[in-house]
Amino acid sequence: MRFSTRMDNLAPYLFAEAERKIAEKRAAGIDVISLGIGDPDIPTPKYIVEEMQRQIADAGNHRYPSNWGHPDYAAAAASFYKRRFGVDIDPKREFMALLGAKEGLAHICFAMLDPGDLALVPDPGYPVYAGGSILAGSDVRYLPLRPETGFLPDLDAVSEEDARRAKVLFIGYPNNPTGAVVEDDFFARVVAFAKKYDIAVIHDNAYSELTYDGYVAPSFLATPGAKDVGVEFFSFSKPFNMTGWRTGFAVGNHEVLEHLWRLKTNMDSGMFDALQKTSAFILDSPWDFVHEMCGVYARRRDLLSEALTSVGMKVPKIKGTIYMWIPVPEGYTSGGFCEHVLEQAAVVITPGRGYGPAGEGFVRLSLTTPDDRIAEAVDRIERSLRI
Ligand code: MLT
Repeated sequence: MRFSTRMDNLAPYLFAEAERKIAEKRAAGIDVISLGIGDPDIPTPKYIVEEMQRQIADAGNHRYPSNWGHPDYAAAAASFYKRRFGVDIDPKREFMALLGAKEGLAHICFAMLDPGDLALVPDPGYPVYAGGSILAGSDVRYLPLRPETGFLPDLDAVSEEDARRAKVLFIGYPNNPTGAVVEDDFFARVVAFAKKYDIAVIHDNAYSELTYDGYVAPSFLATPGAKDVGVEFFSFSKPFNMTGWRTGFAVGNHEVLEHLWRLKTNMDSGMFDALQKTSAFILDSPWDFVHEMCGVYARRRDLLSEALTSVGMKVPKIKGTIYMWIPVPEGYTSGGFCEHVLEQAAVVITPGRGYGPAGEGFVRLSLTTPDDRIAEAVDRIERSLRI
């Protein structure tokens, strides 16, 4: 058979590879602890499951949905954005339902980029930013995120030639994988940069609700002028433990969303109305569950931090996301350390290199594992380091 040349250099997705290794070990009877993928261990709360059951039973929800999204979902998202971020969203023109943020991030590349174009992608960054751009035929310029600049890209370091050629800039704060947050005028600088060079900004806002120590994450769209240049993707996966449900939405610049809409009408038939109405219900209901989850993750962060520090690792205290981005012990590459920990301790962690070249030297640990398993994992890692 003959396949698309686009597949030639396409490696399996970062976590697909980890999934294969975990399955292999478990099949061999090994008790593997995963601190790899960010997939919440605590189930979706009952009030959400029950609402979905009600919506599924309603025959009015069983036909094709609209690709823009159900009006109830759009209205609930607009009112959430006003209440939470102080951002005005026109539910008819500035909202679109997504089958999870990942789907939107990948597809928007096909709406924005042509072969030979340039995408500016944070490094390290969520793999879909580079993956989607490359699949669309675009070149990728990595913008290094370094600890000394708070893991924010240095826009002044982008060459004039690259800035002029670039059509999109991906960013995401609170940041996956580094856990960094925005505490200064970074978003305003992004807007100025995007306006100067006519670049569309794609802000991945999957983690704004999972923050700690009193930090409250802003929306990129709250920055004056942001809606002129960009869109933002919100996801239910992490705040509501709904990774398997695939629900999220995009808000912001109408022209960008109209292009994404046109593309998606040719690729999918929208999101199940029962899920859209449940998503609306979630946004309109009290958010106690999310606050509880913040408490759970802050506790796990402290547990992991204390234990790893005591074995000599340098662990920065994150204020957002569910990930800890940790320098590997001396003498290891990021891949080598993950391999060592998997083979010697049966613990899965993610190599920083998988998020881009500047991720070398780091590993990412996810907090989506019960406390006792986190403690056990650290114990095993400590023992493996003595080998
Ligand atoms: C992660 O672990 O970074 C992601 O949330 C999983 C994914 O969407 O690929």
